[in-house]
Amino acid sequence: MIVLTNKRKVNLVSATAVIGLQWGDEAKGKIVDLLTEDHEIVVRYQGGANAGHTVVRQGQTFKLSLIPSGIFQPNVTCVIASGVVVNLKTLLDEIALLRSRGVSISNNLLLSDRAHVIFPWHLEEDRILNECPSGEAIGTTLRGIGPCYRDKVGRSHAIRVGDLFESGFKERIEAIVQAKARFLVPLGVSPDSPSLDAAAIFREYSGYAEAIRPFVCDTTEFLLTAAERERRILLEGAQGALLDVDHGTFPYVTSSNSSGAGISAGSGIPAKYIKKVLGVVKAYTTRVGGGPFPTEQDNPIGQTIRDRGNEYGTVTRRPRRCGWFDAVAVRYTARLSGVDAIAVMLLDVLSTLPELKICVAYELDGERITHFPSHVEQLRRVKPVYETLPGWSEEIQHVRRLQDLPKAARAYLDRLAELLRCPIEMVSVGPDREQTIIC
Ligand code: IMP
Repeated sequence: MIVLTNKRKVNLVSATAVIGLQWGDEAKGKIVDLLTEDHEIVVRYQGGANAGHTVVRQGQTFKLSLIPSGIFQPNVTCVIASGVVVNLKTLLDEIALLRSRGVSISNNLLLSDRAHVIFPWHLEEDRILNECPSGEAIGTTLRGIGPCYRDKVGRSHAIRVGDLFESGFKERIEAIVQAKARFLVPLGVSPDSPSLDAAAIFREYSGYAEAIRPFVCDTTEFLLTAAERERRILLEGAQGALLDVDHGTFPYVTSSNSSGAGISAGSGIPAKYIKKVLGVVKAYTTRVGGGPFPTEQDNPIGQTIRDRGNEYGTVTRRPRRCGWFDAVAVRYTARLSGVDAIAVMLLDVLSTLPELKICVAYELDGERITHFPSHVEQLRRVKPVYETLPGWSEEIQHVRRLQDLPKAARAYLDRLAELLRCPIEMVSVGPDREQTIIC
């Protein structure tokens, strides 16, 4: 049970997963941080340093991209599982920064020996391939995520964390650099580029290997044993379900299964142990990068939401595209992720808007539909069908009980729950832990 100072409680079971139901940036870090108190193990299982989780603790803001937000609880074991693609420099920088701010990191952090490693050539490939010859670019975070996952699936040019400690690592780097040069040099990368300097890369990554050695283990075995022993495990999804490579708005997606569909694959924990899925949504919608966004408000309303919500990327600082809540999309991702309950974040951002719109259906080629189209070109053509609800003028960041919210805010939440056919269990009205309403 998590208990806030207002003494309201959330029922938790093991294992619980927290999944973003939009295009990422749903403020999952705050929810994970809150729920962590009642868990023994917190797991990141997909994505990499493309994720950015902001956690505010005792007035201090922490931005994490690889280390699970559970790291702030000394008795919690944080696991970076096999499905994550790891930039070792970013990981080590994050560890150093947390330590310099008084956070203890030792045997409370585990890194899977099966996780794939991001190398300089992946960053180069991401940059080159992101320059789209025609049409709309995906607009990746340029963190090498897609190229690393591509090599994982392709197998021949992939290196996992465990490989760093085995003999033959040096020869493997040399062979991969040769193969990568055949691809990258014709695309304009200099043969003398640091991203193709096998000797320097070997030295650099040998250094990283020594630094991460204390954290590396077989996390699949660790998590299987933990699940079998019914230890309290919290699984922290990265990005959002609409960015899922199989079920999202392909090709404008990330390269992993960021919906609930990816939990078992990325962590190794069988589905039968996942007892609860908490879906996290913003009270509105945002998106970074390219791709269709039916409820986008590229106008003063969108700008107001961006300003009030500080909607700029945690990782890239790109301004996020902003729009109304899309209940068609979220109903789809809630079903896809097997969501049991919803946490609505950033409700306070909507204060002062005179009226609010919720997309309840789409019009596609003259026909009203309530399912989420599978093809991106259909999604480009849909026109949102809106319901308009009254807004509220007062600020709500101080509110701690549902009944103390303005009537219009309660009506807005009720309508969301009705449309999503899912209970709302938590509402966030500000960045701090205490600015949370447990329903
Ligand atoms: P990639 O994951 O860097 O390959 O980027 C692919 C798409 O996913 C781009 O549109 C990114 O902006 C988006 N994306 C990746 N990670 C996140 C995230 O954590 N939050 C929001 N969008 C993300």
